[in-house]
Amino acid sequence: MLSDRMQEALNGQINAETYSSYLYLSMAAYLHSEGLSGCASWMRVQAREELVHAMKFFDFVNEQGGRVLLAAIEQPPSDWDSPRAVFEAVLAHEKKVTGLIGDLVELARQEDDQATGAFLEWFVAEQVEEEESAAGVLQKLQVSERSPEGLSEFDARMGQREFHAPS
Ligand SMILES: [Fe+2]
Ligand SMILES: [Fe+2]
Repeated sequence: MLSDRMQEALNGQINAETYSSYLYLSMAAYLHSEGLSGCASWMRVQAREELVHAMKFFDFVNEQGGRVLLAAIEQPPSDWDSPRAVFEAVLAHEKKVTGLIGDLVELARQEDDQATGAFLEWFVAEQVEEEESAAGVLQKLQVSERSPEGLSEFDARMGQREFHAPS
């Protein structure tokens, strides 16, 4: 059984994860327009993963007998200064989401809600991976910028990422 505060916060996270998906889809569109089809493909995979995150929260609220209420999704930015700026924004966004998950963990503790606390553990671990992945991509992009062929090689490697439904 979810408290009203917990339910509202979990619904807020459904919105945040859906916005993440929308943001990454917008980044995919930008990268595509810049001719970086591999990076665009990587970002589309990222967008799909975020929708899976949203659905995990959706299912959990329902399983707990709560009520899912969907709010408007904010419009994401559509332009960035460079591909590098996109991946810097990914890392910054993931750090922000890590903070949101941390706030949910704290609220679950305050509400003495062990079920939600246990559910959130997956997301705590996932955010460690998300930040590591974003930082790793950014580092590879920075290295690739040092050689003339670097960016196209980087783009080709980025295009190899495949979608795997998170367990
Ligand atoms: Fe997420
Ligand atoms: Fe994420």
